Amino acid sequence: MLGKNRRVRADAAAFAGYIRCQVGCLRRVIVDLPIVGEPQLWIATMRAKRTTLVHLIYFSRLNLSADATSRTQQIGEITRQAQKKNEFAVITSFLIIEQNFAAQIIEGERTSVSDTFARISNDSRHRDVQIVEWREIVKREFVNSFTTGIRTPVNDGIFQKASLLPMFQRGTPKAGAIHALAVTLQAESMTKQGIDHLFV
Ligand SMILES: Cc1cc2nc3c(=O)[nH]c(=O)nc-3n(C[C@H](O)[C@H](O)[C@H](O)COP(=O)(O)O)c2cc1C
Repeated sequence: MLGKNRRVRADAAAFAGYIRCQVGCLRRVIVDLPIVGEPQLWIATMRAKRTTLVHLIYFSRLNLSADATSRTQQIGEITRQAQKKNEFAVITSFLIIEQNFAAQIIEGERTSVSDTFARISNDSRHRDVQIVEWREIVKREFVNSFTTGIRTPVNDGIFQKASLLPMFQRGTPKAGAIHALAVTLQAESMTKQGIDHLFV
């Protein structure tokens, strides 16, 4: 499972799957499953096919409607498109929305991340798309193909502590600050759904 202490194995592969939360809901997640069977054969195959896991962090200015209802619909439309495409491309991601700024972390195989970002950066629903960090990672941190963390009165304290807004306004958000906020928002959401115990 894609938990904090999950060991990353050369003989593992990513699959989309489902987990059940405490209240019975099913959540679609992407998991790395160890491959069992003929170890030598698998290791040779994985070496031949080995892909690089990367994450890309960018931020942008949203061109969404000022009207709350239309804005919610627009975000819903982005979510529908992104979930479908990301599941297909085995991408996991987290999108932070604070006022008119967006920051997203996209994780996956190098070519998939590159193709996904090429589409995102051409999208007229946001502008001034700037890469903050793009690097190889050892393991995924995010469990869903696409999750959005929007600043609301409920999570205001978490956003305030992260203090990203002034960084966005200056145009110099730090990758670490974006990443830490996204991880905190994901953990909070998991806890609320009663599935945090699965990610050990
Ligand atoms: C802020 C933002 C984040 C997005 N995130 C993703 C994403 O994670 N994956 C994705 O495939 N599309 C994402 N999209 C949508 C893409 O820009 C694009 O509209 C979608 O992939 C469909 O592309 P296509 O019409 O070229 O097939 C995002 C759009 C915006 C504005």
